[in-house]
Amino acid sequence: MKTRLLHPPVGIGEVVDVLRAGGLAGLPTETVYGLAANALDPVAVASIFSAKERPLSDPLIVHLPGIGWLERLARAVPLALVLARRFWPGPLTVVVPRSGLVPDLLTAGQESVALRMSSHPLFQSVIERLDLPLAAPSANRFGRISPTSAAHVLDELDGRIHAVLDGGPCLHGIESTIVEIEGGRLRILRHGPVTAEQLAGTAPIDPASSATLAPGGLKSHYAPRTRLIIEANPKPHPPRRGLLAWSRDPGGFAAVEILSPGGDVREAAANLYGAMRRLDAAGLDLIVAEPVPESGIGKAVMERLRKAAA
Ligand code: TXA
Ligand code: MG
Repeated sequence: MKTRLLHPPVGIGEVVDVLRAGGLAGLPTETVYGLAANALDPVAVASIFSAKERPLSDPLIVHLPGIGWLERLARAVPLALVLARRFWPGPLTVVVPRSGLVPDLLTAGQESVALRMSSHPLFQSVIERLDLPLAAPSANRFGRISPTSAAHVLDELDGRIHAVLDGGPCLHGIESTIVEIEGGRLRILRHGPVTAEQLAGTAPIDPASSATLAPGGLKSHYAPRTRLIIEANPKPHPPRRGLLAWSRDPGGFAAVEILSPGGDVREAAANLYGAMRRLDAAGLDLIVAEPVPESGIGKAVMERLRKAAA
């Protein structure tokens, strides 16, 4: 199939038509680009798995057109509504018991479903016009780096999906925070732009919170093809080493990407995946990543680096 690169404003209506017809479209969100299809259409959902080569054991996130859909797709969980009112639309995904409307394939047969509402204006225009929930995992082939631009989506999925809507670079640059609600407590399954500190104001957080709890979090993930290691005082030798630097270039490396010249973890998150892609394309033997401070979204950045290194 030929993948069409679409631009707003005309592209919005074209993408809505693709999705209404059961097709697959790459859409910008405030975190990373998603590979979207009608969440209530099991055939469309199946085509997401095949385009990504994603194992059927790894469930998808559903994006909602509005908060009202929470009660249609999930069984009543008061804390989910509290979180939704506080953090939606935005980069928080909640895992809750699912209703009968949600296809089995989408949740990999689990009794829970992961839900979020994107704050990206283009994503919102598309989903409001469509008025259907959209299943949308990150728009990369399975196990690869999440895309933060329309060009990245084409690198990953050109010829496998119907369209990509170009919304420019993503604001946060890393995937949403995922929390599971259990007995009035929260368990963080994946760290992201909404931090543990922000969540703690809402409900107690289970100390067992761990990055390895989400089904898709078990394996190495977010990985470049080039081997990546984390080193606090990186050395440029032997040659053909590239550096994924925190805030300055120490010199001597075959290629360097600086995550945040100003030393800001939010800037580092926004630059992370693009920088990893460029280093991966530079023909290096090894990528050495410097740790970043684990404050705020820095914790999510380090989680991604550890997985890339696994
Ligand atoms: O920011 C994001 O969340 C992006 C954008 C496109 O919205 N989406 C995203 O989706 O990162 P994906 O599929 O790449 O990652 C979803 C993660 C996977 O690790 C999956 O295993 C987990 O969410 N997940 C989905 N449903 C789940 C459930 N019912 N219980 C636990 N984990 C679940
Ligand atoms: Mg993903």
